Amino acid sequence: MGMLTGKTALVTGGSRGIGRATALRLGAEGALVAVHYGGDEGAAKETVARIEEGGGQAFSVRARFGEDGAVDRLFEGVTAGLAGRGLDILVNNAGIASSKPIAQVTQEEFERVLAVNVATPFFVIQRALPLLNDGGRIVNMGSTASRFAVSTQIAYTISKAALESMAPSLANELGRRGITVNTVAPGAVRTDMTAGYASIPEVVAGIEAITALGRLGEPEDIADVVAFLAGPQGRWVTGQTVDVSGGTYLGPIAFA
Ligand SMILES: NC(=O)c1ccc[n+]([C@@H]2O[C@H](COP(=O)([O-])OP(=O)(O)OC[C@H]3O[C@@H](n4cnc5c(N)ncnc54)[C@H](OP(=O)(O)O)[C@@H]3O)[C@@H](O)[C@H]2O)c1
Repeated sequence: MGMLTGKTALVTGGSRGIGRATALRLGAEGALVAVHYGGDEGAAKETVARIEEGGGQAFSVRARFGEDGAVDRLFEGVTAGLAGRGLDILVNNAGIASSKPIAQVTQEEFERVLAVNVATPFFVIQRALPLLNDGGRIVNMGSTASRFAVSTQIAYTISKAALESMAPSLANELGRRGITVNTVAPGAVRTDMTAGYASIPEVVAGIEAITALGRLGEPEDIADVVAFLAGPQGRWVTGQTVDVSGGTYLGPIAFA
C-alpha cells in the first residue's frame, strides 16, 4: 500500500514536465489524482493512462489559466471527478516563463505572467479551501529565480517571489486545521519550458558550473520532494521554501 492510499490530489499543469512527474509519483503512492492541463489534451490523457497502467487512479481536467472563468471550470471538473470526496493535496504547479529584460516586457506579458503564476494559484487555493480536508497539503511551485538575479527573467522572478510569499501567511492561517503550505523551488529542470536553452551546450555547461551537484534537474528530482511534503513524513514542515536545485548558485565552487 502506498503512503497516499485513500488520499486525493490535484496537480495543476499535471500533464507535462514537473507536474506530470508529480502526478505520476502521487498516483504511484495511491492517491486519486486530478491531472489539470491548459490545452494539450493528449499529454494529459497520457499522464492519466500512465498512472492507470501503474495501478493508480486519475482523471484529467481542462482549464486555460488566464482566461475568464478558468478557476470555475477547474473546480467543476475536480468536484465531478472527486465524486463527493474532499481534497487532500493541492499542488499549484502550472506556470509560464517570461525570458526578457525589463525593456522588452510589455504590459500585456507582465499581466499574463502574474495572472497565470500568481493570481490563479491564489484563487485556486481560495476555491480549494472548502474542499480541503483537515490535515491537507498545499505545495506551490516556486523557483530559484526568486533567490538570485537573472536579469532576463524579471517578470518571471517577480511572479515566483509573489507566489513564494503566500506560504508563510497561509501556513499560519490554515495550521490549526493541520494543513501545511510550502513552496518548492527548483533550479533549471529539463522540461519543455527549458528546452530552448537546455539544448545549447554552452548554456548547460554554465548552469552545471554553478550547481553543486553538477547537472540540470530532472522532473523526478522535484516530484520526489513534492511527494515528501505531500505525504505523512512532511507533516511538520510548513510555511517554508524548499530549494530543490542540486545546490544552484550557492557560492564559488572550488576544484582542488
Ligand atoms: N523547468 C524548470 O526549469 C523550472 C524551474 C523552476 C520552476 N519551474 C516551475 O515549475 C512549473 C512547471 O514547469 P515545467 O517546466 O514543468 O513546465 P512545462 O513543461 O512547460 O509544463 C507546463 C504545464 O503547465 C500547464 N500550463 C501552462 N500554461 C497554462 C495555462 N495558461 N493554463 C493552464 N495550464 C497551463 C501546461 O499544460 P498545457 O500544455 O495543456 O498548457 C503543462 O501541464 C512552473 O510553475 C515553472 O515555473 C520550472
